[in-house]
Amino acid sequence: MTDASSRPPVLVAAAVLVEEGRVLLTQRKRGTHLAGAWEFPGGKVEPGEDPRAALVRELHEEIGMEVSVGDPVEVTFHRYPEKSVLLLFFVVTRAPGSPDPQALDVADVKWAGPGDLHDELFPPADVAILSKVRALLAPH
Ligand code: CDP
Repeated sequence: MTDASSRPPVLVAAAVLVEEGRVLLTQRKRGTHLAGAWEFPGGKVEPGEDPRAALVRELHEEIGMEVSVGDPVEVTFHRYPEKSVLLLFFVVTRAPGSPDPQALDVADVKWAGPGDLHDELFPPADVAILSKVRALLAPH
């Protein structure tokens, strides 16, 4: 059972947080899986944890933001050589009074416009959602 392909996927919750036509991205820290990649902020759901609660916890820990988690926007599955991941993407909004995002447990944070969402910056598991996010950012 050490073969990655025979293990269940790691369950990960990730946030699509849009403000003023830009979406929040975080950069993975050195020494982690896919270090340097920009991703939709989030992390592993603990055993038995509600994925929405996991996202509230991760955004508090990683970027110091307090958020409300809304509807799911996408589910993606990706098999990396070392593991597979099942990503649940949710629409997230900043809670009233929450601070701006800070790089507490990530390498960096940024607000990205539609022209900044280049596939090659993201973990492969995140690429499948980029066209939906571009559509969310487009002026209506
Ligand atoms: O922060 P935590 O250790 O809970 O989880 P993580 O290391 O951020 O995420 C677990 C796995 O999901 C890693 O292998 C990440 O590469 C992957 N992931 C991803 O592909 N896309 C994201 N937006 C977030 C995590």
